[in-house]
Amino acid sequence: MNRRILTVICAALLGLVLSVGIVAAPQGGNDAQINAALQAAYAKYKDLKEGKNADYIPALAKVNSNIYGIALVTADGKVYTAGDIKSEVSIQSISKVFTMAKVMEEQGAAAIEKRIGVDPTGMRFNSIVAVEFAQKLLGGPEINPLVNPGAITATSMLAGANRNAIWKSLLGFYSDCAGRSLGINKEVFKSESDTNQRNQAIGYLMYAYEFIKSEPLRATDIYTEQCSVSVNAKDLAVMAATLANGGKNPASKKQVIKPENIPGILAVMSIAGLYDDSGKWLYHSGLPAKSGVGGGIIAVSPGKFGIAVISPPLDAAGNSVRAQKAIIDISNALGGNPFAVKPK
Ligand code: DON
Repeated sequence: MNRRILTVICAALLGLVLSVGIVAAPQGGNDAQINAALQAAYAKYKDLKEGKNADYIPALAKVNSNIYGIALVTADGKVYTAGDIKSEVSIQSISKVFTMAKVMEEQGAAAIEKRIGVDPTGMRFNSIVAVEFAQKLLGGPEINPLVNPGAITATSMLAGANRNAIWKSLLGFYSDCAGRSLGINKEVFKSESDTNQRNQAIGYLMYAYEFIKSEPLRATDIYTEQCSVSVNAKDLAVMAATLANGGKNPASKKQVIKPENIPGILAVMSIAGLYDDSGKWLYHSGLPAKSGVGGGIIAVSPGKFGIAVISPPLDAAGNSVRAQKAIIDISNALGGNPFAVKPK
């Protein structure tokens, strides 16, 4: 065989190997690339000391600020992790996404848009001015289910004969999204229940304006309990991957959310997932995401992967500092931004 033919055969073989690699790695990278991206982000931000634990819920101030875990789950169910994925934190506002999803499962996507709205407030997550502004100046359901007034309203819309039945069904739904049986952090639930007078006032305000139809204090109480659900980084990544995979949990293979509800959920996460910093976040990541004051953030690269990072210290808007940085680095390294396309 002359050298020219050998070169052609070698090139063809190389092409085959590369194309197999690409076909085998449709989720934004192959095993080595994904692991390298996670390890690089873990190492880069491990010693970062910016931000501060939330302390308006006293139990959150006591959580170890050094917890730092990263998990990425592909839409076909492969799990990649870096750092501390054993430690659990309270899910906090990340729960709002899944309560919104459950209401849509029960009542259809229009229910959320009609009763609450799907627009950004541009204000803090527990803003009362945002409600007044929407009510007085915009004249209706012009907020969204990812800020506290909308979230407490969404919780009030859940189906169930009594508080116990509603709670059991909600926790079961979260568990289906995570692929394991979740529980609550009792200390966080008590601590927030003892100090949630502002959320109780928000519940009553939403009742006064007839967004909440009955029992505003019960809705606030269930909302407070949903925020205390205890999760590790892998749980959150599986929940995010369920959203990335058309509502089907890629680990358990259970269809938890109807595929037709996913675009609306991801749209609201895009405009309001990181509250008043949602625009900045989307500008840098392009990813629908949701943060919680427990220190977790989930983000979704549709059709590719769900990613979650836990690190309790927060910035001024209430979003985990390390989680934002790590997710942006990892997603950009893996081509996760759906807005970034190669010109044809
Ligand atoms: O209602 C609250 O204030 C908390 N249970 C949840 C707030 C939250 O997580 C905002 N997230 N960044």
